[in-house]
Amino acid sequence: MLNILVISGEARKVHALFAAEGYHPEPGRSRKKPSPLSYDLALLDLDDEGWRQRLLDLRQKAPVIAFSKADIHLAVEAMKLGACDYLEKPLTGHALHEAIAPYRKKIPDPSTGFDKLVGKSAPMQEVFGLIKRAAVSESNVLITGESGTGKELVARAIHRWSPRKEGAFMTINCSAIPDTLLESELFGFEKGAFTGANYTKKGLIELAHGGTVFFDEIGDVSPLFQVKILRVLQENEIMRIGGARPVEVDVRIIAATNRNLKAECQRRAFREDLFYRLNVINIHLPPLRERMEDIPLLVEHFIKKHGTKRKDILVKGITDEALDALLAYSYPGNARELENIIERAVSFADGPSIVLSDLPSSLLSSAARKKVAKPLLKDALATVERELIWSALQKSRGNISKAADELGVHRQQLQRKIKQMKIAT
Ligand SMILES: Nc1ncnc2c1ncn2[C@@H]1O[C@H](COP(=O)(O)OP(=O)(O)OP(=O)(O)O)[C@@H](O)[C@H]1O
Ligand SMILES: [Mg+2]
Repeated sequence: MLNILVISGEARKVHALFAAEGYHPEPGRSRKKPSPLSYDLALLDLDDEGWRQRLLDLRQKAPVIAFSKADIHLAVEAMKLGACDYLEKPLTGHALHEAIAPYRKKIPDPSTGFDKLVGKSAPMQEVFGLIKRAAVSESNVLITGESGTGKELVARAIHRWSPRKEGAFMTINCSAIPDTLLESELFGFEKGAFTGANYTKKGLIELAHGGTVFFDEIGDVSPLFQVKILRVLQENEIMRIGGARPVEVDVRIIAATNRNLKAECQRRAFREDLFYRLNVINIHLPPLRERMEDIPLLVEHFIKKHGTKRKDILVKGITDEALDALLAYSYPGNARELENIIERAVSFADGPSIVLSDLPSSLLSSAARKKVAKPLLKDALATVERELIWSALQKSRGNISKAADELGVHRQQLQRKIKQMKIAT
């Protein structure tokens, strides 16, 4: 379902056109303050007064399609202010359908996922909302979370849903590259800048002009290099190695880390000014063990993703028993670990369903430990409780009130316990 907000003096007409195409947009005029995440797309009439401010507000929350009587200047201005498309009046059902189709195709069912991310748990729903909001804003984003929680997927989703989607998405893995190489990778170099520089090379940041740069593992960047990145963020320009003049760049920065950058700032391993520049929007990905309810969905998603890789059989399901074992594991490697387990199981499966024996033995033994650990703990507690009650009763020579005093519980409570545990008084 695509929620469309129409803001126009002629909203009725637009609604009629939409209805003919099978859409049901929101009446934008009657609602003073629509909730920011309640619609996926907005249509804004530029022939109404105050459209500029409205456009600036709306584009923070969703893509905006502008429309007006034919006026090329107005169209250009609206696009500059952030409209993602422009339609000329008189609107037709066909034109509306065409303009909206790309969004309709891309919007997944938000209750189970967003873009390539799967999840129905409350924390993941919150993450999807933040991605949407980050996508339509120009602010820098810092994505945090343990390894394998999906940070890169989130960064790509933000780019794909942003007005920069036609531009490049450049990833730089800061932990894998030494400083000297990082500099030429990011900023490029001029011909003759150093021995071996036989040509001029544009860096990743320059190549991402109009798009997004993703600094993966930003927490691993050396303090010296942090200054260089900060400069890009502050000045919106870069200097190629050996270059004489700075080059202006228009990029949105997304960074990710599995470290606690605030703590790194406190111990002066990370620059605080860079941290605040990056952390304008923070998206934190919870570890998988804190959203176990997402596991069945993720399992289904990964089976679909890897199930078709086998040439001989199509793996398309999992037995309840195997799923139970997956639900009893704690996933220190998060969604990536679960994906690896499923990929492996798919290649081991003898039939269309993954069974218990297709799962790694390490997972089975740890799941089994967890299963036995639960009743053991319960039993142990009951034994301790029994012992305590029994010795208190011994001391009080069977006087329940006195024993209850000693144990710090009410008399009735103790009486109930004695009955429950069948303790002889
Ligand atoms: N919510 C999710 N839905 C679907 N797939 C997911 C989800 N989260 C993670 N994955 C999958 O798990 C794998 C790891 O994801 P990703 O590379 O984005 O994690 P990461 O947080 O960047 O990890 P690292 O810190 O190790 O780089 C990917 O193959 C991705 O497809
Ligand atoms: Mg990553």
